[in-house]
Amino acid sequence: MAEKSYGLLEGKKGVIFGALNEQSIAWAIAEAVHREGGRFILSNAPVAKRLGTLEKLAEKTGSPIIWADATNNDDLMALFQQARETFGPLDFIVHSIGMGLNIRKNRPYEDLNYDWYIKTLDISAISLHRIIHCALKQEALADGASIVTLSYIGAQRTFSKYSEMGDAKALLESIVRSWGYRLGKRRIRINAISQSPTPTTAGSGIEGFDAMYEFAQRVAPLGNADAKSCADYTVTLLSDLTRMVTMQTLYHDGGFSSMGISDELIETLAEALGVKQPNEAGS
Ligand code: NAI
Repeated sequence: MAEKSYGLLEGKKGVIFGALNEQSIAWAIAEAVHREGGRFILSNAPVAKRLGTLEKLAEKTGSPIIWADATNNDDLMALFQQARETFGPLDFIVHSIGMGLNIRKNRPYEDLNYDWYIKTLDISAISLHRIIHCALKQEALADGASIVTLSYIGAQRTFSKYSEMGDAKALLESIVRSWGYRLGKRRIRINAISQSPTPTTAGSGIEGFDAMYEFAQRVAPLGNADAKSCADYTVTLLSDLTRMVTMQTLYHDGGFSSMGISDELIETLAEALGVKQPNEAGS
């Protein structure tokens, strides 16, 4: 993470959803926003309370915590009412929430439990819709505010083990575009950052995560982007410097999304599969 503050978020106030522990992308985002002079409320699901880690971040950044289930409109309405009373209209929202129930319970894509599937979509995608809906109802968003959510390239391409989460991310990115049009009237911006595989609680919960991480690491020219660099990128999107950027899925992945295959992966695969390289075959 950049050590130096550029003061990019001086005077800005917002809500950051989804910091669970020090590995969380939202945790790194909160630290970077704090470094840049932004103030915020931290929020997570009430079930995360018992872990007792968010208090540490709250103390470090001087932030209040409001517990809210992002699939519950009553919780969100109460949160934004309190947020408006604390800060006045908000300048930013960070949505860093996701969970795949079938993935967690090892149900394959061919045999989904549909109650869990609906819950996965609700937590990982529809929650963004709800958050914006409730923030607007409570008149808690300032004109020109910026909203950022976290996505993954599994929204566009099939990563077999990403299963139902690919569908959730596709819906999430569509919600970004659908709201983006409507929020534009008030110059409110909304974008999704499509992030590299990152070793977090949610990330490591995906079967095959380590292999997906290593694959992307070997293909991306810059290697995988970590949570801290994602946080720095998020800061730019919350700042006024990107005021004309909206409705985008922005890849923060070290170049992975523009690659096919790399020399390193070809060599690794050739060795693992015992495939002869042309020079070995004498051609
Ligand atoms: P994480 O496990 O630290 O964060 C996920 C958060 O969602 C947790 O704080 C969890 O408590 C919260 N959450 C779950 N259900 C909730 C509910 N009902 N209400 C409110 N909060 C709820 O993991 P990570 O990786 O930091 O995830 C953040 C976002 O980044 C997610 O959207 C994830 O899909 C996305 N992402 C993660 C990648 C990775 O490889 N870790 C790659 C690309 C995107």
